[in-house]
Amino acid sequence: MRAFEISLVDTVVHTRVCELEPAPAAPEDILVRVEHSGVNFKDAMVADATSRVRRSARLIGGVDAAGVVLESTHERFPAGTRVAVHGGDLGVARDGGFAELVYAPARLLSVLPEALSTRQAMIAGTAGLSAMASVLALEDHGLEPGPVLVTGATGGVGSFAVALLSARGHSVSASTGTAQAADWLGGLGAAEVIGRHDIADRPERVLASERWGGAIDCVGGDTLAQVIRSLRYGAAVAASGLVAGADLTTTVYPFITRAVALLGIDVVDMRAEDRDRTWLALGASSARLDFETLLDREIGLDGLSDALEDIRRGATRGRILVTPAPGA
Ligand SMILES: NC(=O)c1ccc[n+]([C@@H]2O[C@H](COP(=O)([O-])OP(=O)(O)OC[C@H]3O[C@@H](n4cnc5c(N)ncnc54)[C@H](OP(=O)(O)O)[C@@H]3O)[C@@H](O)[C@H]2O)c1
Repeated sequence: MRAFEISLVDTVVHTRVCELEPAPAAPEDILVRVEHSGVNFKDAMVADATSRVRRSARLIGGVDAAGVVLESTHERFPAGTRVAVHGGDLGVARDGGFAELVYAPARLLSVLPEALSTRQAMIAGTAGLSAMASVLALEDHGLEPGPVLVTGATGGVGSFAVALLSARGHSVSASTGTAQAADWLGGLGAAEVIGRHDIADRPERVLASERWGGAIDCVGGDTLAQVIRSLRYGAAVAASGLVAGADLTTTVYPFITRAVALLGIDVVDMRAEDRDRTWLALGASSARLDFETLLDREIGLDGLSDALEDIRRGATRGRILVTPAPGA
């Protein structure tokens, strides 16, 4: 099979598309024919020489994939089942989805809902799933109609969050550092597009004006701190990312005087029932969502090096779909 290999030699990361035999890590691993994969921020971290995310000196990249089960002894995933494969150590410490075939344990597989094609599943991918999980977390917390903020809005998580929230009738404020993407974000349903630094007012005060009825943040760092101090009473922010930094400096005032909530989102090691619920919700949203508008580009394995570099530079808009064997 063809695959995109990442290897660290001395202190330098090398990538190449190569021909190799897939090998199961354990006898019970399930073999999946990959129809599509996607490029995630985490994939760019895995291909970064200094990254502590990658936990193998050599592996096939790709933290997610969708396709059809070819060989399996597992009763939930017989041959022919359409599945998503993601999470755990896929593409981080074990061979991932940037290949024509992938072996994975059952715990990394989800049966795809009928309503979702493997193409749609990977246009969404880990980023879209994270956006969906964020929406569900806000709704479980009691999200009410009102302005909802999405940060990093042109990214994979952000763009899906904008589209999902607006399809559910929310008034979405999209915060972005990419001013030229305002029309595109409006097309996804954003009611308002604001700059990265326009999230909160009153920098001289501990608390900003109560502005957001809810928020989805994948940026972290000071952006998340600004979101927390500008949430309305009782509102919540669903936090999933760290593109601007892993440190969070805030005070307890928003929590103890406005009863706001910080909801952590993780779709990598989430419980199987939560993962299934999230895929089902994404499937149920597919009728109201044009996945193709969330696509930055579609590439083969040969386009991955450039795509990873573009993600690192923040030079993408929406999602990059990978089709390892076009026309197969
Ligand atoms: N917790 C989980 O399970 C989970 C799942 C998926 C993703 N994530 C995390 O979520 C984050 C986003 O992932 P993604 O796939 O959406 O990445 P992405 O496609 O690269 O998007 C990130 C977006 O953040 C904004 N941004 C980039 N650099 C920034 C900076 N220095 N300051 C402020 N904003 C910046 C940009 O949007 P604008 O130009 O529009 O501002 C960019 O498009 C990553 O940290 C990823 O690891 C976590």
